[in-house]
Amino acid sequence: MAKATLYFPRDFKWGCATAAHQVEGGNDKNDWWAWEQGEGHIKGDQKSDRASDWWGDGFEKDMDFAAQMHNNAHRLSIEWSRIEPQEGQWDTAAIDRYRVMLKSMRERGIEPMITLHHFTSPQWLIERGGWETPEVIPRFERFVTKAVESLKDLCDLWITINEPNVYAVGGWVSGVDQTSEAVAQNAMPPGKNDLGLALTVMDHLMLGHAAAYHAIHRLQDNARVGLAHHMRLFEPYRSNSWLDRWVAGNRDRVFNQTILDAMLRGRLRFIKRNRSLRNTADFIGLNYYTREFTRFDRHNLPGMILGNGLVKPGIEMSDGNYGEIYAQGLFRFLKRLERTGKPIYITENGLPDADDDQRPRYLITHLRAIWQAINQNVPVMGYYHWSLVDNFEWAEGWNLRFGLVELNPQTQARQLRRSGELYGEVCQTGTLNEELVYKYTPELIDTLFPG
Ligand code: BGC
Repeated sequence: MAKATLYFPRDFKWGCATAAHQVEGGNDKNDWWAWEQGEGHIKGDQKSDRASDWWGDGFEKDMDFAAQMHNNAHRLSIEWSRIEPQEGQWDTAAIDRYRVMLKSMRERGIEPMITLHHFTSPQWLIERGGWETPEVIPRFERFVTKAVESLKDLCDLWITINEPNVYAVGGWVSGVDQTSEAVAQNAMPPGKNDLGLALTVMDHLMLGHAAAYHAIHRLQDNARVGLAHHMRLFEPYRSNSWLDRWVAGNRDRVFNQTILDAMLRGRLRFIKRNRSLRNTADFIGLNYYTREFTRFDRHNLPGMILGNGLVKPGIEMSDGNYGEIYAQGLFRFLKRLERTGKPIYITENGLPDADDDQRPRYLITHLRAIWQAINQNVPVMGYYHWSLVDNFEWAEGWNLRFGLVELNPQTQARQLRRSGELYGEVCQTGTLNEELVYKYTPELIDTLFPG
């Protein structure tokens, strides 16, 4: 018999998140596919290939796992380059395929949340300047209009754009060699290193978001629309150094706060006001993974303003030094986001952990942080774990494994990890209880249920 029990709200959304290019396979008409062909872009020159075979049989298999885990929600993305393979040409077979997928989720009692842009863009768009030119805004709006018109009877929960900050930094800042001391940054296409262009791209992403937000509301009365915002906790490497505190604060403003200011207050680059952008979030989508320590570096200008992201000795990191495991960061962000007055969905949270020795603890401590926030009346509506199944992890290729379901990409064989079993028990009961903590992470019992 369970002694102590932490209850989540009855209508809480329990799910996982995925992105089209990472799971579908064969997405050969987008910029990532082209990027994967370039030597040295992906670790070991790996490719997405069949990915997790969602364009084949993989989707149904993984939805069976989601159902087995009692998920009542799932966040997936649709691939622009499939729906509009050439400018202005719509592929009705691709749209129909997405309709089949959404119906099949609904039949299992799984409510979809659709992301309209998750890092990939059609090659034809890139050839016309991609996100670097303002023409992308009406182009994205036209795609969103088509997608929403075609799918709105099956979905009313939309994410316009995934992580504009990660996208702009990955594509337009990280194409530079990092010093060995620094936290490794993964480059994304187009692999540039141009801060001015990164800011332009960021403006276009936010204006594209606003155009999509208004278009969706014109098309669907009951739509709820947001953006998935990656927030990373930046803390001073030396807590007693005001210079480290200053660079950590700057990083936070640039990486975390600008996006919130844009979609809530209509502010671009701290000062420019844009009325169409103001209040374009019905909810906040929070992607939270980790915390990063930041140290002032007087040797170069970026280091003096934004510092270097460093790993502190002695902290617990996930596979491949991906990031520190720090659940309290999630609680702190939820408290900070409470001030926006918007409902919050945790649209991503997870870690790479191939042997699943850290994930049970990660899951339980992060869910406990969410429970703690809800108990302080923070309106958290749902949790989407990243990810349902091992998938193509961008520049890391297949090296990092985020799935609750383990996948062998060669044979496409799958198996539910122990953390998947654990998540299933949480989703089934809508609780975290003492019995479950004993079963999966006995080492946490005194911390979670003291006394
Ligand atoms: C991205 C995902 C990615 C995950 C893990 C997020 O920033 O949205 O596409 O796989 O992080 O790195």
